[in-house]
Amino acid sequence: MTDKKVAVITGAASGIGKAAALKFAREGYAVAVLDRSASVAELADSLRKGGGECLGFQGDVAVERDVKAFIGRVVAEYGRIDALNCNAGIVVVKPLEETTFEEFMIVSNVNIGGTFLLCKHVLPTMKAQRRGAIVNLGSVSGHVGQTEHAVYGATKGAVIAFTRAVAWEVADYGIRVNSVSPGSVDTPMLRSDIQLESTRTGLAFDVVKRNREAEQAFKRWAAPEEIAEAIYFLASDAASFITGSDLLVDCGWVAK
Ligand SMILES: NC(=O)c1ccc[n+]([C@@H]2O[C@H](COP(=O)([O-])OP(=O)(O)OC[C@H]3O[C@@H](n4cnc5c(N)ncnc54)[C@H](O)[C@@H]3O)[C@@H](O)[C@H]2O)c1
Repeated sequence: MTDKKVAVITGAASGIGKAAALKFAREGYAVAVLDRSASVAELADSLRKGGGECLGFQGDVAVERDVKAFIGRVVAEYGRIDALNCNAGIVVVKPLEETTFEEFMIVSNVNIGGTFLLCKHVLPTMKAQRRGAIVNLGSVSGHVGQTEHAVYGATKGAVIAFTRAVAWEVADYGIRVNSVSPGSVDTPMLRSDIQLESTRTGLAFDVVKRNREAEQAFKRWAAPEEIAEAIYFLASDAASFITGSDLLVDCGWVAK
């Protein structure tokens, strides 16, 4: 059991999820982090060495057995869950006709399936507490048509629609459910995305990078920490009147 507030964060071994885990820890939360990468244990170790409370779990958000085991351990060890941040996600960037149905299913299973499973298994605890905040990860791809991102964009649109519906379903329990839709964020996911586009088009990596930076009004990518701030805000009591919203953190991309 812990006296601290508890944040559950998926995809925490890298990028936005890692920045979110560090932000919640800095703000005094006990953090429970899940990732399919074994390096999630290193994050948990370093947070504990820094004096924080952290439970690390290697598992797959798209496997219900893993999600149930993870949430079961969080509840057994900490006794409560104040915030859930569903970050774990993958991308496929390809022309539609070259995308296999298997790839479609894998991206769907992780991005919307994983979000569904985490929310499903965290809600009983939040309902019993009559308190909690969920922040899911959308994307500008769920708002605008992005070439060769049809499958990814469809899963992110699904996350945004799912978030709205769950917000209404659990409002009577004092639980808020929102999403954050980032523009381009400098993480390993985006860099591999740029590398693929560079290989396919024959354009230099830096050229593709500059083109993708120009989609933001400030002509740069976000740092993962800038998205973590928005996630933390939506999970905090400062956002007490916000539910069912999608917060664009895209530096004007969708506003154009
Ligand atoms: N980077 C961007 O530009 C950007 C933009 C918009 C939205 N997003 C979204 O933000 C989220 C985080 O992306 P990121 O850029 O930090 O990516 P990232 O690749 O740096 O990190 C994603 C993490 O999720 C983990 N993960 C992937 N599949 C998993 C699974 N099945 N089970 C458990 N863990 C899994 C990975 O191991 C990795 O640690 C994703 O949902 C992504 O779609 C990213």
